[in-house]
Amino acid sequence: MPRFDVTIAGELNLDLILYGLPEQLQPERELLAERMMLTLGSSSAIVAHNLAALGSRVGFQSRIGDDSLGQIALERLQQGRVDTSRVRCASGPTTTGLTVILHHNAWRNILTYMGTISELTWDDLDLAYLSDSRHFHLSSYFLQRGLRPRVGELLHYMRSKGLTTSLDTNDDPDDRWDTDWHKILRDVDVFLPNEREACKVAGTDDLEAAVRQLSELVPLLVVKLGAKGAMAARGKERIFAHPRSVTAVDTVGAGDSFDAGFLHQYVRGADLAKCLASGNLAGAFSTTRPGGTEAFREAEHLKNFLSTTT
Ligand SMILES: Nc1ncnc2c1ncn2[C@@H]1O[C@H](COP(=O)(O)OP(=O)(O)OP(=O)(O)O)[C@@H](O)[C@H]1O
Ligand SMILES: [Mg+2]
Repeated sequence: MPRFDVTIAGELNLDLILYGLPEQLQPERELLAERMMLTLGSSSAIVAHNLAALGSRVGFQSRIGDDSLGQIALERLQQGRVDTSRVRCASGPTTTGLTVILHHNAWRNILTYMGTISELTWDDLDLAYLSDSRHFHLSSYFLQRGLRPRVGELLHYMRSKGLTTSLDTNDDPDDRWDTDWHKILRDVDVFLPNEREACKVAGTDDLEAAVRQLSELVPLLVVKLGAKGAMAARGKERIFAHPRSVTAVDTVGAGDSFDAGFLHQYVRGADLAKCLASGNLAGAFSTTRPGGTEAFREAEHLKNFLSTTT
């Protein structure tokens, strides 16, 4: 029996989220936010945290700087019962990364200082630790600048050790999306883009065409559709899953929470409909509190939400 249900190698940093901003951000003016939140950010860490909150055993490998923001992020993961024994605190000039989110009513600005995010490399990885698991997940592909050249190799290695694998690219800050997708995706069991990312990877504006194309490259494609729920493509089969109805206060991290919900059931061998329902549930639950992990830190809130599942 492997030590972990899911292992993740990736970025660990905080999100600083500002709410209640003026719609126009005029240069050189002192502009006020109504509220702020400093919370665990980074797709990889949010997936890890929320998987553990759901009850999975999670091992996490990352690189942070020797600074207080890195320590706070690390403590959040530890409080969430994620194994952080392989998180390396590297002394040196580079500090832990930080994402600043400017939250507007209908949209967000997401500004990331990469810091140590881009410094995680193959040489930092403890492959024996990461492969002592049922499943390996990788998020934020485009932010992993140090690791990216060997991500294909990493996924291939994990598969050769008997793990299943999943990938969530998240956004490409350069908006280029130019990767050898055949090489990366051939060792991915579950590909987890949102609608825009699926189209960008496939190089088309047409979601149907993107789904057709990508489902030929991976055994299971899962596309997150925001407030519309999610869909999966397995070969020619298509399954749509309705969203869980919720009063959303903040969708930051909903996609990462979806990944956690989906993978929590996937590693238990649940059928696809159950995995999708679990993803939608976790995604919706995440929106009930600001940030990507705050809802999952409230055990009672989580228990109540899960118990009202239809
Ligand atoms: N308003 C909502 N109501 C119900 N469920 C929602 C809502 N918004 C998001 N979700 C759930 O969260 C999932 C992920 O949302 P979304 O498609 O926004 O992911 P994403 O764009 O990858 O997000 P992220 O910004 O975290 O990367 C959806 O598939 C859905 O299950
Ligand atoms: Mg996402």
